[in-house]
Amino acid sequence: MKTFTDIIALRNSLSNKQRIAFVPTMGNLHAGHLALIKQAKQLSDCVVASIFVNRLQFLPHEDFDCYPRTFDNDCKLLAELNVNTLFAPNEEILFPTQQEFLLALPSVADTLEGEFRPGFFRGVATIVLKLFNIIQPSLAVFGKKDYQQLHIVREMVRQLNLPVEIIAGETVRAPDGLALSSRNQYLNKAQRLEACNLYQTLLQLKQEIISGRKDFPVLQENATKNLVKRGWKVDYIRIQKRSSLLPAHSDDNDLVILGAAWLDKTRLIDNMEITD
Ligand code: PAF
Repeated sequence: MKTFTDIIALRNSLSNKQRIAFVPTMGNLHAGHLALIKQAKQLSDCVVASIFVNRLQFLPHEDFDCYPRTFDNDCKLLAELNVNTLFAPNEEILFPTQQEFLLALPSVADTLEGEFRPGFFRGVATIVLKLFNIIQPSLAVFGKKDYQQLHIVREMVRQLNLPVEIIAGETVRAPDGLALSSRNQYLNKAQRLEACNLYQTLLQLKQEIISGRKDFPVLQENATKNLVKRGWKVDYIRIQKRSSLLPAHSDDNDLVILGAAWLDKTRLIDNMEITD
């Protein structure tokens, strides 16, 4: 695996590649990331991964400083999967001057995650666009775990006519259902045992919808109460339309349930699709 920190050297090395598959990450790789890499490998002989903890997508009080950074182990895991190229720039390379050009995003970016993490998607979209410009991939793989991020990246690509195909990777879960996430390691033992109940709550909601319940606001409220009773602080549990991420009405049937909730100081997100 070739590792680059520098943009010009990276571009030179990739200049003769026909079809690059790109997997952007913030490092601290786990089985969820590795599944995205494996998916990329099936789609192209040339897989480029990036590791960059992007300051633009963290609010001042969030965990940018303590976000887990495990570069050596990440390199080992990527090399084991025969990733061709790793781009691991530092902040001076990606932000040599203050990043003053920032994308303006559609209103969906102010809902759900965006409501509780204002500016988050602007930070994500801006860095993803920069990485696409630097790497110029034919396709890029994003996990469904960050469902709204996947939606917004897709919309950005569509509305800005970027020549990149966006591929969705399934969420990888622990045996008890908890979606894998770098932030799971903030959980203590008792919280880790409790954490699967976010998944269980979404699953129960899904079953209720499949069995014919259409009173979505009531279902959302009950699911929230259930988690609060168990000690969670719930940011949102919402039933949305899959195509737009707008609130679903009772006659919609291509749905996704999205949830975000806190166990003490750890914020977890998850989602579940309900397709026809
Ligand atoms: O999903 C992530 O890890 C990040 O949001 C991404 C896409 C790498 C942008 O920093």
